[in-house]
Formats: sequence, structure tokens, C-alpha cells
Amino acid sequence: MSRTVLELLRLTTRWLGERGCPSPRVDAEVLLAHVLALPRMGLYTAHDRPLDDAEVDRYRALVRQRAEGVPVAYLTGTRGFWTLDLAVDERVLIPRPETEQLVEEALRRVGERRAAAWRIVDVGTGSGALALALAAELPHARVLGIDLDEDALAVARANAHLVPDPDRIRFVRGDLLAPLREHPRRPHLIVSNPPYIAAGDPRVEADVHGHEPHGALYGGDDGLDIIRRLVPQAAAMLAPGGWFLMEMGTGQGDAVRSLAAPHFAEVGVLRDLEGHDRVLWGEAAGALELGEEPSSEAAVDAGDAGADRGAGSTEEARAGSGAAAAGVEPEDGDDPPEEGGDPTASTGPAPAVDAAGRPLPVVDLQSL
Ligand SMILES: C[S@@+](CC[C@H](N)C(=O)[O-])C[C@H]1O[C@@H](n2cnc3c(N)ncnc32)[C@H](O)[C@@H]1O
Repeated sequence: MSRTVLELLRLTTRWLGERGCPSPRVDAEVLLAHVLALPRMGLYTAHDRPLDDAEVDRYRALVRQRAEGVPVAYLTGTRGFWTLDLAVDERVLIPRPETEQLVEEALRRVGERRAAAWRIVDVGTGSGALALALAAELPHARVLGIDLDEDALAVARANAHLVPDPDRIRFVRGDLLAPLREHPRRPHLIVSNPPYIAAGDPRVEADVHGHEPHGALYGGDDGLDIIRRLVPQAAAMLAPGGWFLMEMGTGQGDAVRSLAAPHFAEVGVLRDLEGHDRVLWGEAAGALELGEEPSSEAAVDAGDAGADRGAGSTEEARAGSGAAAAGVEPEDGDDPPEEGGDPTASTGPAPAVDAAGRPLPVVDLQSL
């Protein structure tokens, strides 16, 4: 006899619970909703619906993987972040709800100026979560997501279609802010959720350690290896009056504040809803000057390889305007690097190399 939605949920919840799953009911529901292509709440109105054999087989296969520790988001292939349903898989960290605090803080600083031509960089973009959430909120922002991991970038690019006008979003490979090194226009906002967990931290759940990319999780012996390099780079690259917003781990607030204080005009550490240190903010000296809302021509980029762009862009769209070069010239008050010198030479990013010691490209980011 075929089982109904409710019967299957009861059995599966018990079965997952007996195997140590920390959230058996929720997981059972999310996976069943996925198999039946229903919203989770739709399971309740369909509680007496019988499942056919194929549906039960698909559900069983997913539930077994969940019992083996595979995170639910990798099984369903999606994770909600801010307003977006991002595609995720084992190539990227599963975006966490606490990271939405960075989006909130960024938008608080943007305030009324949502229509301005913000230049935003997301360092360690992973699935593109922060880059795309901000692009979704700021219609004229030009957004660059950087990641060291080409596999992660493929996921981010595949998510770019989720926001309007994905041609203004670009994803490039690079070590922290190295891709911006030679670009004359500075970002107004740099956001980052870097790897910050200390190697061997016993609080890391087995499912997380066993399935999420270690390059996205771990930041060396004390968790601060990446942050130590990122903080001075971000300070050196920001436009005058720009902001750096970075997620950190529980208990890292004092260390991160001390690292950041010498580099910014002002810094602070914000707590999350549970009272843990969560977000570093740093403000660059000077007054923030934002460009006007860009014209459609100026928004078209005369930049580099199309492969670096968000999904949905085409070479034709990129090259289609004779006025495209307008996007190259600074259109606001940000200082370009001084003549003959790189302003980031002392604290800015060094040219990155890949695992074989070959230099990674410095990307010509005309659209930022
Ligand atoms: C904690 S994950 C954050 C992913 C995404 N921003 C989010 O919040 O869900 C950190 C990301 O940083 C990337 N990463 C690690 N080291 C990096 C480096 N040196 N330069 C650029 N990206 C790096 C990882 O590949 C990973 O995608």
C-alpha cells in the first residue's frame, strides 16, 4: 500500500533522528517538498496525498544521503539567501543566514542612495551570495565577485541570472583583492565572508567538515590567516569614505578590531542576534563620492574576457556600443593611483600565484 505524505514524514523523521540527524523533521520535510516540487508548507495541504513508487524511491535515496551527513542544501541543490534562491553544490560553501547581516549593514550605509552607481567588491564570493544579494538591491551597482577557486566561480556565474541586468556583475579568479591592483577606480564598498575557522576547531560539525570545501572554511591555526592579509588590502583599495564589511567567527572580535584599527579612519565590531562578534566594519578616510546613475552606454563595459562575466552576458552585448569606452574613464571624484606609483604598493595585494607558482592574471576591471 502506498504511503501518504504525512506517514512518510513521520517515518522519516524518526529514522533520521535515530541516526543522529540534528534536525530530522525539517530535513524530512525539505527533502520531500523537493521531490514533490512543492513549497514546504504545501506538504500540509497535501498531507494525505499518496506517493507513487518513483517518488518514494527518489525520496529514499535523498534521505539515505542525508543520514550519511550530506547537507540538505547540496541534496536539493538550492539555498535561500536574502531574496534569492541560489544554486549550490559541493563546490561552494552553503550560504548561512548570519551572512545576511552583511547585506543588512551594507544597505543601512547605502541608505537612500540605492539608485547610485555603487562599485562593490565581494572577496571570496563562493556561490555569489553577497555579490548577488547586493546587486539585487542596488539596480545601478556594478559588482565584482572574486574567488581563488575556479569551481566556485562557475557556481557564482550560474547564479548571476537571478538578478536583473547581470551584465553589471562579474566574477573573476584571484587572490583576495589582487585583481583590483592596477585598476584606477576604487570600490565604494568591499564585503567579504572569508574563511575564518581555526584548523582543528572541534566545534565544526562533522557534516560541515566532511562536505563543505575546506578552502572556504579554514583560515589557518587561529582562523585569521586570510583576514590578516585581507584587512590591509581592503583599506588600501577602498575609495575615500568607502566601507569594508567583513564577517568573522565567534570570539574573533578583539583580534580583528586590533588588526583593522591602524588601517581605517574608523572601525567597529557588530554582534549577531545571538550576541556573538560577527561583522567588522571599517570606514576609509575622506568623503564618499558616488557617480550619477549610469547611462546605458556607460554601464556597458569595454572590459576583458567574457568568461569572467555573469551568466547571460554575451560578447555582442559587451562590444555592441561604440560608447563603451566611456565606461573606462573615471566619472566621479575617486582618486586614480598617483603618477608612476601604485598606492597599494606597501599594503596592497601582491601579485598572486597559483599552486604551481605561475602568476594569476591581474584583471582589467573596466566596469568598476
Ligand atoms: C566562507 S566562504 C564564503 C562564500 C560566500 N561569500 C558566502 O558568504 O556564502 C569563503 C570563500 O573564499 C574563497 N577564498 C579562500 N581563500 C581565498 C583567497 N585567498 N582569495 C580569494 N578567495 C578566497 C573560498 O574559495 C570561498 O569560496
